[in-house]
Amino acid sequence: MFSSEARLIGLPLAAIDTPALVIDLEAMEDNIVRMGTYFATRPSKLRPHFKTHKCPILAHKQLAAGAVGVACAKVEEAEVLVAGGVLHNILIANQVVTRTKIFKLMGLNRHAEVMVCVDDSGNVAELAEAAQTFGVEIGVFVEVNVGMNRCGVDTAQAALALVRQVSNSKGLRFVGLQGYEGHDVKIVDLAQRQAAARRDIQRLIETREYIERSGIQVQLVDAGGTGTYNITGEIPGIDEIQAGSYLFGDVSYLGVLEDFRPSLSVLSTVVSRPARDRIITDMGLKAASTDQTLPQPVEVPGVQVRKLAEEHCYLAVDDPANELSVGDRIAFLPGHVCTTVNLHDRYYGVRNGLVEVVWEIAARGKSR
Ligand SMILES: Cc1ncc(COP(=O)(O)O)c(C=O)c1O
Repeated sequence: MFSSEARLIGLPLAAIDTPALVIDLEAMEDNIVRMGTYFATRPSKLRPHFKTHKCPILAHKQLAAGAVGVACAKVEEAEVLVAGGVLHNILIANQVVTRTKIFKLMGLNRHAEVMVCVDDSGNVAELAEAAQTFGVEIGVFVEVNVGMNRCGVDTAQAALALVRQVSNSKGLRFVGLQGYEGHDVKIVDLAQRQAAARRDIQRLIETREYIERSGIQVQLVDAGGTGTYNITGEIPGIDEIQAGSYLFGDVSYLGVLEDFRPSLSVLSTVVSRPARDRIITDMGLKAASTDQTLPQPVEVPGVQVRKLAEEHCYLAVDDPANELSVGDRIAFLPGHVCTTVNLHDRYYGVRNGLVEVVWEIAARGKSR
């Protein structure tokens, strides 16, 4: 808790200075319950991605609602999770490279369970050596490229070679495979999204079968994101879904799926109304990202975001009846929630119009 912000608790939304990240607690809680309920009755389980919210208390809430573990993107995020009391079943859903990070990972494993993904034989050797130095055994997932063409090995044969190397390395324990159909999760048309995800995840399933035919057990296969949780989550042979954005939602997911309620907004103040057709607010690029798409005003008809500059948001006003003036507030749905959250120090959690909590975004800026 930030002591200077604690005074806001119990006060109306209007007391929050801007720009600020505001959680609609009721909507967020609904999203947590909805996702938890979905996985409660299925063989696949939820491993929510920490990179979206970067706040340990929210990871605890997801775990309390049935999630089996947590995924995160970086070693520093894992450090924040562990410091925040999440000690079991953390998976860094990426490769950990460089001596400093590998040592940090091993140090963490003396206090908690933090697993990692690999796609390179030299990296496996370095991880094994460091694990032995630290006297730990760490869980390892082999990443398979399912068509996103980011990280991951391209063939089942290459996966098996790495799986064998991991299995034969003291200090490493082969756990399973990870694939991420990130190029499919935001396909708006449901039938097309289903077809693409099923086709791409087939590569992961075939890799699992290939490895198991060699006599090595694959304990877990992880994949999926918010846009495919109920597609990939239904495919036999997929054990865990690593959805993140479902918690808050954003413009990039609008129209993709209606199962979750947008629960996060960037609150902003009009700093200038230079013309009838132009409004300028204090939500610039330092308060909202534009890497995927622009933010959208919530419930302000006839007003469109034109662009964001360093400190300013430019709005075009089509509605002649719009009387917004300097000092008025506008809430925006973030364009891309994960990169927007990373710009803020804290969340203001609001219920029935009153500030209920102020939560530190403890892993904000933790990109190592
Ligand atoms: C490996 C991996 N899994 C899962 C996700 C979660 O995606 P989403 O936020 O769409 O749920 C991401 C997002 O980038 C990812 O990189």
